Amino acid sequence: MGFERWFNRTLNRVWGFVEDRTGMPKWALRPQPAFTFQPSYWTGGFVATAFLYQVISGLLLLLYYQPSVTPTYLACGQAAGTLSSAPAAWCSTSYILNSVPMGSLLLSSHLYGAYAMIFLAFVHFFRGYYLGVYKAPREFSWMVGTLLLLTTLGMGFTGYLLPYTQISLNATNVGLVLALRLPYAGPILGPLLLSDGTGQGLLSRMFAAHVLLLPLALGALLYAHIALFESHGIAPPATSDPLQRRRFTHTEDRKHVPFMPHIFFYITKWALLYIGLLLGIAALWPWQLPTYAGNLTAAAVVTEPDWYFLWLFKLVDFYGVTPVVAVGITTVIMLFILFLPFLDRSPRTHPRDRPFFVFLGNSMISFFVTMTVWGGLTPGIQILPMPIVEILGPPILVNALVVGLFYRHYRSKYRARLLASGNSARLPGAYPLARGSSLSTPGARLEVGGRD
Ligand code: HEM
Repeated sequence: MGFERWFNRTLNRVWGFVEDRTGMPKWALRPQPAFTFQPSYWTGGFVATAFLYQVISGLLLLLYYQPSVTPTYLACGQAAGTLSSAPAAWCSTSYILNSVPMGSLLLSSHLYGAYAMIFLAFVHFFRGYYLGVYKAPREFSWMVGTLLLLTTLGMGFTGYLLPYTQISLNATNVGLVLALRLPYAGPILGPLLLSDGTGQGLLSRMFAAHVLLLPLALGALLYAHIALFESHGIAPPATSDPLQRRRFTHTEDRKHVPFMPHIFFYITKWALLYIGLLLGIAALWPWQLPTYAGNLTAAAVVTEPDWYFLWLFKLVDFYGVTPVVAVGITTVIMLFILFLPFLDRSPRTHPRDRPFFVFLGNSMISFFVTMTVWGGLTPGIQILPMPIVEILGPPILVNALVVGLFYRHYRSKYRARLLASGNSARLPGAYPLARGSSLSTPGARLEVGGRD
């Protein structure tokens, strides 16, 4: 007991000294309510952690990687002096995997870390989607987030070509055909991505985008994203009350904890768990390098992207879906996500009050999951109209039915509960505004303290 008191007192003294000499309370992020110590509130922090790991492991990979398609003498597992027909990019990747100490762990964890970052970005996105965190005043946080998601996918696309395997070259070419058909952006992107039209030109551009341009863009967007987060604070839990959605209830607001060191250490704890898991998986299942681009002795290689683009590749296999149509569909989905804060005008954030957007969110998930599995099972195989309807239709119908029934049930139960309590003025669509307050007043106070 005596030791514990001494330990806590010393820790407080040391921390007090650090805070005083660094002026940390002034520049650390703002304190947050204590109840936000749950993983759900920090999903963005986990994506940022994954990004940080990618930057560090990527910088280490740069020490060995050669962005060149020229055949090389060394590092391909062949006797030194024998000219290998494999491109230097592939050979240096093989060298990292087979000869650099811990190289396989480094490269495999960088690759799986990219998968994890993309997956976590989708978790962060769907969490915000269902809980309505994109509503005022966080519209710009959402829009910057959408750009972050696109940049993250761009990192995946450009990184895929770097080992210069036949499968990655094939998939990159299909991706380029789609990218060049993007309205307005396509003609600008074309010369930027293709360079002089040679393999070396393409690899150099992808390399520059992957290690410099996109990470810089991601860093700048992340800075803006966190600055916006700092100015609005964390979004309160989802609620049916239009006034309560901008602020915390009295209970939630009671205790705040400083960002440094409490929240920082909370995120660090999860970050360490993340890195441990990533390294464990990379050690147990190291990545196997497929054959190099231009290997004429290899059997025919299927054209397959990484899992996060499989849905788009499958879309191009659909009967009647040309690259222009596939790009059109993707553009509509991206524009919907970008402008969502201005499309969903309901002042309520709780999913039970937004059945249409819940239906759309569920449909997006079922579409992406089905298309990804389908793309993985039958890459490059054309699909006729009937199977398309048979496979994609039922989940959407079931989704519409389930969301519709839940909404009907909720409305009738809620109505009955309010009528029983004699408070029928607070039925959905009939929330009273407190005298003198308006929905656009950030700190508007309402007498009711709890959430519905
Ligand atoms: C590379 C991708 C991304 C990173 C690194 C990132 C990072 C963060 C961080 C650190 C926060 C602070 C709160 C938290 O940890 O959850 C945050 C909040 C937020 N993010 Fe992201 N984000 C990314 C992508 C996105 C995407 C794709 C969207 C949506 C389209 C989005 C929308 C938001 C919104 C609306 C908030 C405020 C949420 C709140 O106050 O609870 N972000 N993000």
